[in-house]
Amino acid sequence: MNPHTQAKRKFLLWVSIAGVVGLGLGMIIGRFGFCDDTEKNSVPGIPDAIVQDGDPEVTAEIINQINSENIRRYLQELSENPHLAGTDADYKQAKELQEFWTSAGLDEAFITPYDILLSYPETQNESMMNQIFVYNSSDQEVWKSALYEPILDPSENKSNVVPPFNAYSAPGDVSSTDLVYVNYGRVEDYRWLAQNTSINITGKIVLARYGKIFRGDKAHQAYLHGAKGIIIYSDPADYAVDGETSQVYPRDWWLPESGTQRGTILLGSGDPLTPGYPATEHAYRLNESEAGLPKIPSHPIGYGVAKTLIGYMDGVEVPNSWKGALNVTYRYGGPLKDPYKSVRIRISTKNEKRTTYNVFGVIQGRVEPDRYVLLGNHRDAWVFGAIDPSSGTAVMKEVSRVMGNMVKTGKWRPRRTIIFCSWGAEEYGLIGSTEWIEQYVKNLASRAVAYLNVDIAVQGNYSLRSLGTPLLNSVIYDSTKKIPNPDDQDTVKKTVYDKWLVSFPNTEKTLPRIADMGSGSDYAPFIKRVGLPCLDIRYTYNSNKYKLSSYPLYHSKYETFKVVDEIMDRGFKRHRAVGQAWGEIARSLADSLLIPFRVQDYAQKLEELVKQLDSDFGTLMRKNGIQFDLLYNVSSLFTKETDAFQKFVDSVDKRDPFAIRKINDQLMQLERAFIDPQGLPGRPLARHVLFAESSVNTYAGSSFPGLADGMFEIESSPDEASRWEIVKKHFTVILYTIESAASTLRDVHKFMPL
Ligand SMILES: *[C@@H]1O[C@H](CO)[C@@H](O)[C@H](O)[C@H]1NC(C)=O
Ligand SMILES: *[C@@H]1O[C@H](CO)[C@@H](O)[C@H](O)[C@H]1NC(C)=O
Ligand SMILES: *[C@@H]1O[C@H](CO)[C@@H](O)[C@H](O)[C@H]1NC(C)=O
Ligand SMILES: *[C@@H]1O[C@H](CO)[C@@H](O)[C@H](O)[C@H]1NC(C)=O
Ligand SMILES: *[C@@H]1O[C@H](CO)[C@@H](O)[C@H](O)[C@H]1NC(C)=O
Ligand SMILES: *[C@@H]1O[C@H](CO)[C@@H](O)[C@H](O)[C@H]1NC(C)=O
Ligand SMILES: *[C@@H]1O[C@H](CO)[C@@H](O)[C@H](O)[C@H]1NC(C)=O
Ligand SMILES: *[C@@H]1O[C@H](CO)[C@@H](O)[C@H](O)[C@H]1NC(C)=O
Ligand SMILES: *[C@@H]1O[C@H](CO)[C@@H](O)[C@H](O)[C@H]1NC(C)=O
Ligand SMILES: [Zn+2]
Repeated sequence: MNPHTQAKRKFLLWVSIAGVVGLGLGMIIGRFGFCDDTEKNSVPGIPDAIVQDGDPEVTAEIINQINSENIRRYLQELSENPHLAGTDADYKQAKELQEFWTSAGLDEAFITPYDILLSYPETQNESMMNQIFVYNSSDQEVWKSALYEPILDPSENKSNVVPPFNAYSAPGDVSSTDLVYVNYGRVEDYRWLAQNTSINITGKIVLARYGKIFRGDKAHQAYLHGAKGIIIYSDPADYAVDGETSQVYPRDWWLPESGTQRGTILLGSGDPLTPGYPATEHAYRLNESEAGLPKIPSHPIGYGVAKTLIGYMDGVEVPNSWKGALNVTYRYGGPLKDPYKSVRIRISTKNEKRTTYNVFGVIQGRVEPDRYVLLGNHRDAWVFGAIDPSSGTAVMKEVSRVMGNMVKTGKWRPRRTIIFCSWGAEEYGLIGSTEWIEQYVKNLASRAVAYLNVDIAVQGNYSLRSLGTPLLNSVIYDSTKKIPNPDDQDTVKKTVYDKWLVSFPNTEKTLPRIADMGSGSDYAPFIKRVGLPCLDIRYTYNSNKYKLSSYPLYHSKYETFKVVDEIMDRGFKRHRAVGQAWGEIARSLADSLLIPFRVQDYAQKLEELVKQLDSDFGTLMRKNGIQFDLLYNVSSLFTKETDAFQKFVDSVDKRDPFAIRKINDQLMQLERAFIDPQGLPGRPLARHVLFAESSVNTYAGSSFPGLADGMFEIESSPDEASRWEIVKKHFTVILYTIESAASTLRDVHKFMPL
């Protein structure tokens, strides 16, 4: 029998046992729950173990046991060779992780495969490989892009390094006499070009720099403006602090001139051929031509060759805000400078159906096995992935080792189930996680407590940073206050929290900042589809000082173990701190009698979002007949209900398992209550009315995304009137959704107001 089917059966078996136990407990509660008002502090017949809160000893044990040297060793193994999604190396790592979890003492470890559409460049025949050329007026080739990133350190001398490419780029061989510079390729950059120059993009090739927005949005904007191809390069202004003169890899962590950012340009998440449904054996698959794949060739290059290419461009010099840090005159472009005649992009990247694998490791819950706390990280990397994602994989292995060991030795078993998730094919578009959510959405929607993502664990050694939904704020703060500051030079700031607070405070400077979530990693489908509270934590560089678009070596071949070990986190203390924080957050969610969600943090966030929306669009919305103040009314109603609920929580009889379970269910349902099953206008798979990624930048979070999309440049839109109707309808959907969320917090006997 297929071992995966067998494991799945066992999983289902214990889930049903959990159901039976739960039912039995319900019956006991039914007997005792309502009988005796005088016995306030105990319910006869309920074993202590059922109403026991988490044990602080366990916190100390997890924090002490997480070991830097183990994480270092795991990372060295994981990043030894390339492990691109859909390759043998990827499968090998999946099997190794499954074996690791089995031997680490977890109760279950299994793999779920999906057959999905991936994308790979030609690597055999050099005369077909992806490349960009410039020809002069005698049609001689005078410039071409590099096929590979050269080996700069012997540790990169490995086979199966995929050359730089943009996954899912349309194949094609296109030429143009014009090359136009579009800055970051954002909506506002094209608007600038249209208003301040006479350049027409239609039929031309564009050159954009990486940064600010998701590269898929750059390719899409180029297509929408009529470009026939796009070249994307990394400018030193965004990836090497002292520009071209920086000390770079392998001596430092800055991007060398040959470093090239790979990456997907797919918009949306999940397998492109099975949107909304799992890519299982019998699933209906779209024809590729109807799958919404990118329509024009796209290719990335490094700044070494980009500098020469920019030197061939003509036209007016760009303003300072468009200039990068190369020692060259940045121009808008147009026809190339004499004697250069044309630019050509040749792309032979092909889409292929291949298998991706998710791996799961399960610690069954002691009291509430039907409540799942999920920890996840993706496993696939563009090349060595020592930062993205293997720093996170190494840390997850260590957290699971420590917890598994405590279970194995009988020291501890969490109240709720903990599931470690290792995703496949995240880099291509969050595919492994999305397919799994699509397959198990019913189970997750009714049983999951939260999803805790760590993609990159360490991209710098300065401070923690976090993204998250509001219910998790307090558990993030409380947990990070328990973790020692990994910087042993710093004697003032004792904890990870202290350092975080001074490094990245919120606007009032009262708390560390927790930013809204975009769609940058596997948490996105959990929040958008299921409505699960989610977070994403990592250690990062000083982004107050360095205005980078990402850590410099991002998605290049040079993300190696060596750069992490010798430059970015010597001693692996930051990796350890991330593991300690992640482990303690998970323990708290899995082990606390009451799930540590503070509903008042949600209310506060909602009020902030409403104020922000008002300042962005309030005037215009009122002018067009929308009763904006109703939004203030429902949000204050929500606040009132959260205050009442919190009072109720504070006074609950902690010996009464029914009361506890009732509150925990209400806490679990709150985030889901913001899901609209119909989805946002025009985006059926984005169902959370408060949070989604921005439609013009997939990386960025957007609040009230349906309204933000609807209002985007509405006044200059040719179909303004019909767009207002969509906005008006969606506005009332939001009012209704907030009221309905508030109603879930009321006393279960009185959920309808008088
Ligand atoms: C490489 O590709 C070129 C162009 O398609 C073709 O003419 C040539 O035969 C190929 N070479 C090999 C070894 O397949
Ligand atoms: C085009 O480039 C070729 C090769 O570098 C050179 O021999 C030729 O003179 C160039 N033609 C012009 C018009 O510059
Ligand atoms: C890479 O390794 C091969 C064989 O192990 C060796 O021949 C080659 O010189 C190495 N290349 C570099 C650039 O170190
Ligand atoms: C055109 O350029 C001016 C500055 O020269 C700038 O203020 C304006 O915003 C630009 N227009 C657009 C649409 O970006
Ligand atoms: C740009 O050029 C295309 C075709 O060359 C033309 O159809 C289009 O109207 C032009 N756009 C503008 C804004 O002039
Ligand atoms: C897929 O679409 C293309 C282009 O529309 C068409 O030529 C092809 O026959 C379709 N294939 C299938 C299997 O429907
Ligand atoms: C920039 O380039 C010019 C011309 O090529 C050269 O003279 C100058 O020294 C360069 N400046 C720097 C800082 O490298
Ligand atoms: C912190 O990281 C930077 C670059 O990422 C590195 O230059 C520096 O030496 C590191 N400091 C420590 C203490 O690891
Ligand atoms: C909103 O609340 C305010 C203050 O409670 C109240 O005066 C007002 O009538 C409410 N507005 C609507 C439209 O219900
Ligand atoms: Zn990643």
